[in-house]
Amino acid sequence: KGKSKTVWVCSDCGYDDGQWWGICKQCNGVNTMKRFSEGVEHLTSGFEVLENVTRSWLPHQSVRAMPTKLTDVNKGINQSNWRIPLSGLFGAEVGRVLGGGLVPGCLVLIGGDPGVGKSTLLLQIAAIVAEGCDMGGPAPVLYVSGEESIEQIGNRADRMRIGTDELFLYASTDVEDILEKTQTLSLRALVIDSIQTVYLRGVTGSAGGLSQVKECTEVLLRFAKKTNIPVFLIGHVTKSGEIAGPRVLEHIVDVVLYMEGEKCSSHRLLRSVKNRFGSTDELGVFEMSQSGLQAVSNPSEMFLSEQQSDSEFLAGLAVTVIMDGSRAFLIEIQALCVAGSSVSRQVNGVQAGRAEMIISVLIKQAGLKLQENGVFLNVVSGVSLSETAGDLAVAAAICSSFLEFPLPVGIAFIGEIGLGGEIRTVPRMDKRINTVVKLGYKKCIIPKSAETSLSALDLGDTEIVACRNLKEMINIVF
Ligand code: TYD
Ligand code: MG
Repeated sequence: KGKSKTVWVCSDCGYDDGQWWGICKQCNGVNTMKRFSEGVEHLTSGFEVLENVTRSWLPHQSVRAMPTKLTDVNKGINQSNWRIPLSGLFGAEVGRVLGGGLVPGCLVLIGGDPGVGKSTLLLQIAAIVAEGCDMGGPAPVLYVSGEESIEQIGNRADRMRIGTDELFLYASTDVEDILEKTQTLSLRALVIDSIQTVYLRGVTGSAGGLSQVKECTEVLLRFAKKTNIPVFLIGHVTKSGEIAGPRVLEHIVDVVLYMEGEKCSSHRLLRSVKNRFGSTDELGVFEMSQSGLQAVSNPSEMFLSEQQSDSEFLAGLAVTVIMDGSRAFLIEIQALCVAGSSVSRQVNGVQAGRAEMIISVLIKQAGLKLQENGVFLNVVSGVSLSETAGDLAVAAAICSSFLEFPLPVGIAFIGEIGLGGEIRTVPRMDKRINTVVKLGYKKCIIPKSAETSLSALDLGDTEIVACRNLKEMINIVF
């Protein structure tokens, strides 16, 4: 293995190859293979070479490991079933998103925009894990920050009234140094804030670059697996919505959680995007307060309060669920029908052709006299609706404005509309309905043909109403 050998790494999926390809052989990304000419050995040959990078603090892989019979695997201690419970309301909410607690030796990545509250969240998690109310008393947890000094973190902890004895703070960006320090403490968990600020000696590139991020994460993964200490990584999301630019990280870690929230709202959502130990349907709802994040146990209240404050404007407002990758988002669609308006149609965030089609179907199939009306459509907060799943909500918003009948609070619409006025099913119905249920919506209107996808879902208190066509929907809702 020559040291000056060149390697090409896909910036999207992390696939590496000895030669350049115009199209990545793994993810088919076009022109994503980037060249790396130094530190090759770390990138090319996985475990063998990582052994050189990692030092004494890593226990070496047992040479006596042998294949095990399936029937023998679950005898004795089953580590994958054992979870570290997180206590309190906040802990329960986080634990639910993690799939029922913290799995020993798991590597968890928490992504989100800068300033959304990732450091706050992790400081709180570190504190409850260190206190260990449900785990037989306190044990050390190390919170490492490459972004803030320990005084800054200390001040924040004071404001959040965290005074846990076993919570250790350490400011460092050198992964080897960090892992050496963990040896002297018998840790229950480790937090790294953030993966973009740490680096590994002997690997080229600056901290936050593709090869550093990838190598550091792989070393931390090995550390977690060998010591059984759960490790949390914080990752900043770039504008395009990817962690650290490359998608590399998501493939390496066990669990990926995203923290989301609007700048103007105090609500924060914690969403599971990948989970090797549980379902990705979980959604945690929190509120950012003066003293840190608080779990919102009844999310429907959060929507009620937001909507009731401007109840006069409720007519013409309908909610639907759109998918972004594996993530489901609730969006609000506004419609305004004005009789005798000089502007006939104005749409914002909805495809003009689609809107025109829905309006025509409402006229023809549902008998709405929209011909003499100007119709304005808008998707709240500037999101654009590119899916047909929002058709039903567009139709409901138009009906609501035309009939001047405000839609009841806590109702969501999912479905595509056909030319005959029929309501059709859309992909990922279960995921969408699940989000509606988790957010405490009272009612969800879905296509009749999608009823079969409900069988495996826990619907909680949400009433699901299946409709065949627009007429049925209008009769039920209005
Ligand atoms: P932070 O956790 O630093 O965000 P990130 O690590 O994702 O960049 O939190 C940033 C915001 O949270 C900051 O604007 C202040 C606010 N905040 C509160 O409102 N209450 C609190 O108790 C704390 C600690 C922060
Ligand atoms: Mg931070």
